[in-house]
Amino acid sequence: MEIISGLETIPAYLQKVVDSKKLFRNNASLIVYDLEFIKERIQKVQYCFPDNALHALAIKASPLVNLLRTQNKDGIGLEAASLPEVYLGLKAGYKAKDIVFDSPCKTIEDLEFALTAGVRVNADSFAELERIDELYRDLGSKSLIGLRINPQMGEGNIHATSVGGKLSKFGVPADEQRGAIIEAYDKYKWLRGIHLHIGSQGMSQDQLVSAVRKVYKLASLARVVREVKGWKLDIFDMGGGFPVSYSKDQVAPDIKDYAEALELECPGLFDGSYKLITEFGRYIFANTASAISKVEYVKEQADSKIAIIHLGADFLLRKAYNPKNWHHDITVLDKHGRLKIGTDKKPYMVAGPLCFGGDVIEESIQLPVIEPGDYLVIHDVGAYTLSMWSRYNSRQMPTVLGVGRKDISILKKKETLFDILKFWS
Ligand SMILES: Cc1ncc(COP(=O)(O)O)c(C=O)c1O
Repeated sequence: MEIISGLETIPAYLQKVVDSKKLFRNNASLIVYDLEFIKERIQKVQYCFPDNALHALAIKASPLVNLLRTQNKDGIGLEAASLPEVYLGLKAGYKAKDIVFDSPCKTIEDLEFALTAGVRVNADSFAELERIDELYRDLGSKSLIGLRINPQMGEGNIHATSVGGKLSKFGVPADEQRGAIIEAYDKYKWLRGIHLHIGSQGMSQDQLVSAVRKVYKLASLARVVREVKGWKLDIFDMGGGFPVSYSKDQVAPDIKDYAEALELECPGLFDGSYKLITEFGRYIFANTASAISKVEYVKEQADSKIAIIHLGADFLLRKAYNPKNWHHDITVLDKHGRLKIGTDKKPYMVAGPLCFGGDVIEESIQLPVIEPGDYLVIHDVGAYTLSMWSRYNSRQMPTVLGVGRKDISILKKKETLFDILKFWS
C-alpha cells in the first residue's frame, strides 16, 4: 500500500479564515475560495490568448452563482453542459451570446430555449444539426452554432475524463466522418463554428495541441467549401482540459507554454482569422479553493487509526470512487487552528461521514498525530468537487466562503434541513 505524507502548510487566504475564529469554529466543515487567485488565473488566460478570445469558464467545474457573477466582464463567458447550467449562467448576469451550450443530449425544448435566447450552441451530432436547422428557420435565431468534432487522437491517462479516443459519446468522429463533416459545412449556412474538447486532466500538452491542430486543419478545409458560397466559418472553440497540479511534489504546467505551442501550430487562431473560444474550468478553479473539516472522531484499531471527518465521498466523489487517479494534499491543524507539524507521524485512514465502506479519501497517509477536535485541510478542491456533490445520506452542503483582498464573503450558505426536505419532496 502506498503511504503518502501530508502537506505541512496552508495558503495565506485560508489562514485568514482560520484566524477569524468565529468562522472557523462555528462550522464543522467549510469550503474556501481565493478570489484573488481566480482573478489571477483569468488574467493569465487573457494574457496568453488573443484579445478577441471569449473565455467561457466551464460552469460544471464550479457552478456557484455568486462566484460566476464576479467573473463577468468583457471577454469572459461561460460554458454550460445542460439547460440548467445555461439558466444559471443567465442568472449570474452573463449575456446569452457569451454562453456556450455543449451537451450530447439536448432536447428540442433545450434547443428552442437556447436559440430563442441567443445562446451559442455546439451541436454534438448530425442529428442535432438537423434539429437546429428546423428550429433556426422558425425562430429566426441569432445563436451562433458550431459542430463538435472528436479528433480521435487517443485517450489521456484518466479513462473516465478522456473523450477524444476512437470511440467517444461526444462529437462527430473526425476520421470516420470526415466527408460527412465537410458536407455539413456545405449544407448549413448558419454553421459558423467548430468545436473540440478531448478531456479534463490527464491530457498532456502535446495531446491537447495535436488535437487542436487536427481540428484546425479540418476547419481550413471546411472553410474552402464555405467560401465558394460566401459563407463564413469564423468561430473556433478549442475546449478546456488544461491540467493542473494537485500535489506539492508535482510541477504545475504553464498555460503560456500551451498557448505558445498552439500559436506556432495554428496561427489562424491567434491572428484574428477566427473568433477563438476557450472553455477552461479546472485551470481556473481547481487550485483556488481548500476545504476544512473538523475531525469528529479518531478510531484506534490494532495497528491503524481512522480520522472521521465531515467531508467524504459526497464532496470528493472522484477521489473516493477512483482514488488511483485523483489526489489532494492534506494538512492537519489543531483545535485552535495552529499547524500541526512534526516528525512523529502516523499512518491514518481519512474517512468521510457516509454510510458505506468506500467513503474514504485516504487509505493510508502519514500525518502528525490527530486528536478529535483537530481540523484537516484538503487542498485544491475548487473544481469538480462541490459541483459533483452527492445527495447520498442527505448531508447538508457546507458554507462556501470567498476570501477577497479586503474581506471574506459568503458565496453560499450551509444548506438547512429545510433545503434537504425541499430537495427530496
Ligand atoms: C465540453 C467541455 N468543455 C470544457 C470542459 C472543461 O474542462 P476543464 O475543466 O478540464 O478545463 C469540459 C469538461 O469536461 C467539457 O466537457
